[in-house]
Amino acid sequence: MSSLSRTPTPQDLSITPRDRRFGRDDRQGRWWMNGDPIASVFHTALSVTFPKGEAMFIEAVKAHRDGVPEKLAREIRAFTQQEVIHSREHVVFNRKAAEAGYDLSELEADVDNVMELIKTRPPIVNLMATIALEHYTAMMAAIMLKDSAMYDGAEPEWAALWKWHAIEEIEHKGVAYDTWLHATRDWSRWRRWKAKSLMMVAITARFWPKRIRGMKALLQQDGLTGWRVSARIWWFMLGYPGILRKSFVRRSRPSWQRPRPDAAARHPREGGRPEGPLSPSPRRRLRGGSVPKLDGCGEVPYLLARGTGDRPCHRSGPRPSSCSSNCNSPDASRCSNSDAARRHSSPRGRPGGSWL
Ligand SMILES: [Fe+2]
Ligand SMILES: [Fe+2]
Repeated sequence: MSSLSRTPTPQDLSITPRDRRFGRDDRQGRWWMNGDPIASVFHTALSVTFPKGEAMFIEAVKAHRDGVPEKLAREIRAFTQQEVIHSREHVVFNRKAAEAGYDLSELEADVDNVMELIKTRPPIVNLMATIALEHYTAMMAAIMLKDSAMYDGAEPEWAALWKWHAIEEIEHKGVAYDTWLHATRDWSRWRRWKAKSLMMVAITARFWPKRIRGMKALLQQDGLTGWRVSARIWWFMLGYPGILRKSFVRRSRPSWQRPRPDAAARHPREGGRPEGPLSPSPRRRLRGGSVPKLDGCGEVPYLLARGTGDRPCHRSGPRPSSCSSNCNSPDASRCSNSDAARRHSSPRGRPGGSWL
């Protein structure tokens, strides 16, 4: 169960660790997200937290695995495998960011301080912190995957890494919470609600300011400071893609609803007509409510809420000649008609060289 979802974890949910390796032989541009420094440093600042943060998640969950039902025990094992691999890949991502010239020591020191603080807390508090943070990672993952233009023009290997991570975060989003439900099975409903609500407030008050401080620290290294930079950060958070705003919008919260298999075919851009109570809203249709499928990831059910369907994932490979120069889609027909192509030329999207 997602931490704010009332829908139970599906019985047939399968958590599949996909042992992918990314970018060993690649360089990483400082502004690898299509030349957009704001989007690039958002990912880099977030990535710095992953190796140690996800190791903490694993320890917090494993500390409460004794006596859990067999199904949950299997899910904890799969969750652990996924997070270990995520940590390994983000170590590489962070090393490439350092090789690109970023000094990550200030951000890493902040993560170390948090880890020291966590050691002093009871295991159940660490598990509660984990469910709050896993909730945010699942929501961010959903936002990243739902926006079909999010990684257009990004360096393909790193875009693939983030999509792969997002898929697996959504897949295992209920594991920490289900473990906590088991660990607190003797608690009253009121005590559970109070505890998780207080933790959510505490995590929220720290999580977002820290991400913004991290982004500013990295942008400062690029020589980007001042109110216009701050304004662009807030636009990224609250405008487009609106990571922070969407994290607090109820309809953007992930749930365990299975995507309708014919959703893509019904999508207006695909020539279909939306029907029924689960059809995407007109606004969502305009934003592109589809879910990319990562090569080699196989079927990924239960990804996102309502009106979603699978679409090809942008991936490494030769760019079709019909695509715009900063699109890495291998699928020319989808590229030329996608909102990605429109966003490439949109002044509100990614303006390239002159980003302010
Ligand atoms: Fe992860
Ligand atoms: Fe996770």
